[in-house]
Amino acid sequence: MCDQMHQTNATLLFNIIKNRRSIRRYNNKPVPQELILRLLEAAMWAPSAHNRQPWRFAVLTQTTDKDRLAQAMGARLRVDRTADGDDPDDIERDVARSYARLTGAPVIIIIGTSLIDMDRYPDPQRSRNEWTMATQSTAMAAQNLLLLAHAGGLGACWVCAPLFVPELVKEVLALPDDWEPQGLITLGYPAQERTKPREPVQSKVIFL
Ligand SMILES: Cc1cc2nc3c(=O)[nH]c(=O)nc-3n(C[C@H](O)[C@H](O)[C@H](O)COP(=O)(O)O)c2cc1C
Repeated sequence: MCDQMHQTNATLLFNIIKNRRSIRRYNNKPVPQELILRLLEAAMWAPSAHNRQPWRFAVLTQTTDKDRLAQAMGARLRVDRTADGDDPDDIERDVARSYARLTGAPVIIIIGTSLIDMDRYPDPQRSRNEWTMATQSTAMAAQNLLLLAHAGGLGACWVCAPLFVPELVKEVLALPDDWEPQGLITLGYPAQERTKPREPVQSKVIFL
């Protein structure tokens, strides 16, 4: 490939990376199945520790599934925040917002990690490192998905809630035992535009 083509590709990719925002409101247009599969394929071209591909995805497009998940997560949120002693009106607003966000997304993709193919160690430190590598790999896959979604005119947002209730998510969706839900991605055609700043490069980097 010639230098000029490299430069054009790099500029295009940089702009896709820079212009992607977390989109939380979607219109009703359904996302074609082929497009969802394409996003998942892009996710799976991410690098992964030992190339073990520990990412797992569960795709929800049916209203009943999204509703069941949102109801169950909302109920748990209410219980947890009540135990924290939070204001009941705040809690109900939070529960309603979470329900609307999840059920308002045409597609929900649960992001999970499985350790089933990762190395096993007898000691906790190396076991923890292996777990960290698996979750790092999963996050890289999710970023591929977010970027291709944006490049394809879709909007998406990573939502952390399943990380707080992994067993509940597994039970409600009957996910395999070895899956560890890490988060979910809401996906659809965007009904909002967002801007978000970043801190200067120099504030996060040391050149040695
Ligand atoms: C690990 C992780 C967890 C996140 N959890 C949530 C979440 O629970 N709800 C939400 O609305 N956004 C969530 N986000 C999106 C961030 O708020 C968003 O990426 C950040 O504010 C920067 O905005 P941008 O993605 O539009 O650049 C999460 C992002 C990451 C990477």
